[in-house]
Amino acid sequence: MDRAVFGRGRGLRGELTVPGDKSISHRAVMLGAIAEGETHAAGFLHGADCLSTIQCLRAMGAEIRLSPDETELWIRGRGLRGLRRPEVALDCGNSGTTMRLLSGILAAQDFSVRLTGDESIQRRPMRRITEPLSEMGAEIRSVRGNGCAPLLIEGRTLHGIRYRSPVASAQVKSALLFAGLYAGGATTIEEPFLSRDHSERMLQAMGASVDSRIFPDGRAVITVQPTEVLCAPEGILQIPGDISSAAYFLTAALLLPDSELLLRNVGVNPTRDGILRVYRSMGAEIRIENLQCSGGEEIADLRVCSSKLYGTEISGALIPALIDELPVIAAAAALSEGTTVIRDAAELKVKESNRIFAMCEGLRRLGIDAAETEDGMVIHGKGSRRGLHSAVVESFGDHRIAMSFAVLGLCMEAGGSVMIRNADCIRISFPGFFERLESFG
Ligand code: S3P
Repeated sequence: MDRAVFGRGRGLRGELTVPGDKSISHRAVMLGAIAEGETHAAGFLHGADCLSTIQCLRAMGAEIRLSPDETELWIRGRGLRGLRRPEVALDCGNSGTTMRLLSGILAAQDFSVRLTGDESIQRRPMRRITEPLSEMGAEIRSVRGNGCAPLLIEGRTLHGIRYRSPVASAQVKSALLFAGLYAGGATTIEEPFLSRDHSERMLQAMGASVDSRIFPDGRAVITVQPTEVLCAPEGILQIPGDISSAAYFLTAALLLPDSELLLRNVGVNPTRDGILRVYRSMGAEIRIENLQCSGGEEIADLRVCSSKLYGTEISGALIPALIDELPVIAAAAALSEGTTVIRDAAELKVKESNRIFAMCEGLRRLGIDAAETEDGMVIHGKGSRRGLHSAVVESFGDHRIAMSFAVLGLCMEAGGSVMIRNADCIRISFPGFFERLESFG
């Protein structure tokens, strides 16, 4: 379904909550299913990706109950070795997190399983997990021999390894940490910069031994010890609002005149808050209020006011802390004064779409001077909404591309619009996105 988003003259004023964190929701389902006891989570993201994870674990015998609005869930854990062989291939849909993290668990089971998913996921690189998991003793291969899904995994006895990952990827790290729970000996992963650390935090909260060290050059070294049991968290696991979803409303509020928006209960884990740091360095007025810790994660309200933004440079250790927000940051850069340069972000090419190409292509259609580079993009900001052209842009079936252009649609001058092709992909991570947009009247 295509969707037109029209320019609004007015700012965004009021309060908003966003759906639960996608990364934490996936982990709650997977780790809850292999823990002992019942995991009760609130604030679960009922987006298509997390529902794919639920479906995969149900197919292996996990009992998972959802509340009628699907934001609360109860998982009866089967223990580390209690999953059973699914009767059909596991369908991960569009979700890279489902496929990569689950592979770590499946590599150590006593059955074989086939993992598949949609067209986009069948193009995404899986060698980054199949190679280190094979080093641990796993029998895991790409069915077509092209390093992509479908994957065939035959459970094996694993042994711990020390692995230096060439990319800062929480999905790679988490696959190895999960496999490491079952391995003989410790498993250590080194990444060039620390990627999101939700797996480490949740594993620790469930009783596993995980140790992290960050070195002055940015390298992160994480070690997990094998264990016999994970314990379901006591009480309710409160999943914070997803900062990656909050990012769209945060950006719109900054760019539209006369906004004051309070985004409530947003996860602000320091491995995820790069967007706040970058926007502030661009001139944004964002206040963090009510900072608390809940379920082992930092959570806060974000108060955002319309701000004049200036171009910036984004690279290095900051990239993993805002990797999913780079498309919407590129949208903000398009309306900022001066040039924004994004480097060290080649990973964007292997997300749900090639996000470097998708953003630059769409921005050019709107009249923005945006150029792709090998590992990022260079965007010459317009300084204001004046001069943005109405246009039709492709989402490439990628939820974050669709929502980034929806933000630019809102920022058009009166009468202007952005038509987003195949905007229904937004359900992957943000059910209720358009309803929230419309709630501002
Ligand atoms: C995720 C990690 C990130 C992110 C993805 C979710 C996760 O990928 O882009 O949307 O939940 O671990 P990488 O860490 O592999 O870059």
